Parts: sequence; C-alpha cells; structure tokens
Amino acid sequence: MTEKSYGLLKGKKGIIFGPLNEQSLAWHIALACHREGAAFAISNIKMAFRLGKVDKLSTLCGDAPLITCDASRSEELEVAFNELKNKLGKADFIVHSIGMSSNVRKMRPYQDLNYEWFHKTLDVSALSLHRIISQALKADAINDGGSIVALTYIGGQRTFSRYSDMGDAKALLESIVRSYGYRLGKRGIRINTVSQSPTKTTAGTAIKGFDRLYEFAEKTSPLGNAGAEDCADFVMTLLSDLTRKVTMQNLYHDGGFSSVGISDAILEELYGPGE
Ligand SMILES: NC(=O)c1ccc[n+]([C@@H]2O[C@H](COP(=O)([O-])OP(=O)(O)OC[C@H]3O[C@@H](n4cnc5c(N)ncnc54)[C@H](O)[C@@H]3O)[C@@H](O)[C@H]2O)c1
Repeated sequence: MTEKSYGLLKGKKGIIFGPLNEQSLAWHIALACHREGAAFAISNIKMAFRLGKVDKLSTLCGDAPLITCDASRSEELEVAFNELKNKLGKADFIVHSIGMSSNVRKMRPYQDLNYEWFHKTLDVSALSLHRIISQALKADAINDGGSIVALTYIGGQRTFSRYSDMGDAKALLESIVRSYGYRLGKRGIRINTVSQSPTKTTAGTAIKGFDRLYEFAEKTSPLGNAGAEDCADFVMTLLSDLTRKVTMQNLYHDGGFSSVGISDAILEELYGPGE
C-alpha cells in the first residue's frame, strides 16, 4: 500500500461493513480511508467483534466509531444508519465487504446444496447490499454525489469449480449493483463492484483448495495477484471524486487475470518446459 496520502477523501464521511482482522479486504480499505483523510464508522456482526480485531482497527483509524449490525437484517440496519447519523452525520461513501457461505465452508457439492444455507448465502452475501442501500436511503443517511463499492469475485461471471453457491451470490450482487445504480444515478450516487484477485483472508481461505486457486491465478495474471493493500488503493479512487462518472460497473482488480486465456507459466506447469 502506498504510504503517501493523496488527500482523496478529505472531508468525506462513510461506513465500512466487513473488517474482521488484519487479513480482511475491509481492514486495508479502512486504513487507506483513514490515510486519505476520511472519517468513517466500522461495522460488523456481534461475533466478529468478539472473535476479530475490530477494536484495534478502530484505534488505528483515529477511534473510528464501531457499529454492531447484522447486514442481513433490515431492522438492525435501520438502527445502524441512525447511529451513523448521530455519531458522524450523513455518509458520502459505503463499502460492502461481506461474504459467507456455509455450503462452501462445509464443502457441500453443488448438486447437493443445503437450501437453508443457500438462502443464507444469498441473504448475507448479496441481498445485504440491497438492504444496506434501502435502509441508508430510508434513514436519509447518504449524501447526493456519494459512492458505494462492493467486493466481488470473477466466480460471479464464470464457473469456478470450488466456488459453489458463492458464484450465484456474486452474480446476484453484481446484478443488484446495476439495478440500484440506475435508480441512484438520479442523485448522482455511484455504485460499482470491485472484482478482486483471490486473497488470503478468513472468507477466502474457507474455499477448499484455495491455495491452488491462488497459485493458478498468480501464474495466469500478467501482473500477479492483486493483494489486499492494492485493493484498498484502488477502492480509494472509486470513493473519491475522481471517478464521479463511473457507475454500475464490475471493475476487475486482478492483475489482468480476467483477460487471459492461458499463460506460459500454466502451460509449463501442465506440460513442463517446451516450445
Ligand atoms: N478473499 C478473497 O479471495 C476474495 C476475492 C474476491 C472478493 N472477495 C470478497 O471480499 C469481501 C470481504 O471478504 P474477505 O475476503 O475480506 O474476508 P473476511 O472474512 O475478512 O470478511 C468477510 C466479512 O463478512 C462479515 N459478515 C459475515 N456475515 C455478516 C453479516 N450477516 N452482516 C455483516 N457482516 C457479515 C464477516 O464478519 C467478515 O468480517 C467478501 O464479499 C468476499 O466475497 C474476497
């Protein structure tokens, strides 16, 4: 991560959903927001406050207010956005960095999914974005000209054999970004997804065979995998005024992975050195 501040978010306020520990994408996004001069609240579920290191992050970010909230529950979001307004005022940006699938974690085969878990995957990983935006609007907690960013994975666009029902959740998440983006445009509010490289986080490493997936992406991407700190720097541009006409996009932040068919490194891995 660049240590230099560009002051990109000076005077801006926001809320970041999903930092758990030092590995989390949202952890690095919070540090970068702090570096760029934003004031923001940090939100997660109760269990994350107990098991994660959210308090430490708050301290690192100048005692950023902490808001406990299950983003799959509208009534908790309603309270959360009122709390945000009381503690900080209206938001100029919202970051959604939330994902969870019990089917992936417990390695249920796609043809034998537990449907209760499937519903939960969709609710927590995708519908939560819809709920967050709806409650922010209802609470009058987001400013005109604001920016919303959600984290996604290329498994929402193409089949990745181990990504299971998370692929469906990401496809839905990206669709919600388009559907809501159209409506938010009337207020100059932008919304985009960042499609990030495989990253060694708690959610990422819950995927069976994650290390192989990570290595495959590393060997395929001309620039190599994008790390969590790289992701945070990219997200800063999307939260800043520099991207005020970018909306409803799924932006690949993956070292070029999404545009490559096959690379020499993968061919050599499969067939050994040769022509
Ligand atoms: N790690 C990767 O390889 C990778 C790649 C692309 C996209 N992403 C996406 O990035 C986002 C962040 O994941 P991460 O990799 O930083 O892992 P992470 O485990 O650090 O973050 C996931 C967060 O979701 C939170 N969460 C779970 N249920 C919630 C709920 N009901 N309400 C509110 N928060 C809840 C967790 O507490 C946790 O903080 C996810 O959307 C994930 O799918 C991750």
